[in-house]
Amino acid sequence: MAGDTRNVGLTSREVQDDPFPYYRERMSKCPVWHEEDINLYVIGGHEEARAALGDLRTFSSKPAAGNRAVRPEVVLAYMGVLEEKGWVHTPILQRVDPPEHARARKILNRVFTPAQVRAYVPEIEEITNRLVDSMLRRGGCEFVKDFALPLPGRFIARHLGLDDDEYPRFRRWAEAMLSLAQRNDMTVEEAVGEANIEVEEQHFVVAEFEKRRRNPGGNDLISLIVHAHGEDEEAFTTTELITLMHQLITGGFETTTGALSAAMLLLLRHPDQLQLLRDDRSLMPNFIEEVLRFDAPVQGLWRSVQCPVNVGGVDIPEKSAAMVRYGAANRDPRVFENPDVFDIRRPNAKNHISFGFGVHFCLGAALARQQMSSAFNILLDKVSEFELARPLEFPVYDRSFFLRPMRELHLTVR
Ligand code: HEM
Repeated sequence: MAGDTRNVGLTSREVQDDPFPYYRERMSKCPVWHEEDINLYVIGGHEEARAALGDLRTFSSKPAAGNRAVRPEVVLAYMGVLEEKGWVHTPILQRVDPPEHARARKILNRVFTPAQVRAYVPEIEEITNRLVDSMLRRGGCEFVKDFALPLPGRFIARHLGLDDDEYPRFRRWAEAMLSLAQRNDMTVEEAVGEANIEVEEQHFVVAEFEKRRRNPGGNDLISLIVHAHGEDEEAFTTTELITLMHQLITGGFETTTGALSAAMLLLLRHPDQLQLLRDDRSLMPNFIEEVLRFDAPVQGLWRSVQCPVNVGGVDIPEKSAAMVRYGAANRDPRVFENPDVFDIRRPNAKNHISFGFGVHFCLGAALARQQMSSAFNILLDKVSEFELARPLEFPVYDRSFFLRPMRELHLTVR
């Protein structure tokens, strides 16, 4: 693939597995480019990405028109099932622009506070300790399935009112809810199957909302969201709550899994950095920022272009689909010296944009950072040696247009 970008692009298996050589090649010519096969403008430069994310009149978060990453009949089939048997998503929070965006964000900001995240630390640590103890008992694990998925998954599932043993059910819901955005090769039949699974999730959460409406005062995420509105604010409707749950689950589960898996693989590939972290635990926050910079769990997200605009010297026509590629911006050599070097002491690691930028900045960033630091503090406290139990095979990642879902990471631990 090296060097030649004529026949490869973001839909290619090789590029999705390791997009960084592709970004490097593209960005050496221009920080913004057009993906011909899917008619998508990609904004890869750090400065250009921040400018686009700050220019909400031009780059709207309303669903994009004009890209061909998912076939329209697949989208229609999926939405048809929601319409018939469940609830069609309503435009709110991540899928709207200011001023509409502000109402939901203002209410939710009261739930996702640093103090609230601190209150969840004992629960995060309890889940983490159990997962680490289990991997030690067995002398190893498949890190993605046995740790990186269940840590954020069990946390959200519990808050939804599911027992720990119902976590596989939650996981299947989350997969279905991501399928439309994630799988650009889905058939109509598959879309119908996935939509039916999302409908099951919708009916489950609606019953949970009702329980919390009848019994206020709980400190779980769902109770807080249902009751977070002020006296002079309208409470979220059921359809709004369903859509918010969709955004919290799709935004908060596999993203954190990606970050945890990336962190572990990077430590295995860079034993010198692991030793540095073991010797000086005060490097933990910067280690986390460097992981997020080096391998952004969300590589890119959509925007739809409202008026003709020139970014980084490239003319983008009105009504185009654009994607801000966080993963490329985090490797921009104009901002990060030797961007392809993983360095947990990098002074400006936190200038990454893996949690976005501007009004849509990730609502769950503090929660994700807390889960990552609890995870690696407890892992380093309890596990003295990590080793790859078998070599990684291509492809290392499952297909995804915008996430980094690692397939398997088999470890031996002591
Ligand atoms: C390492 C883990 C995570 C990463 C990399 C990540 C990444 C992002 C990014 C890039 C955005 C910006 C979206 C945009 O501009 O359109 C975002 C927004 C958002 N994230 Fe996260 N996220 C993570 C964890 C979480 C968690 C744990 C939650 C909640 C439980 C969450 C909930 C959300 C929500 C609701 C939004 C939309 C905010 C808005 O539009 O105002 N995320 N996230």
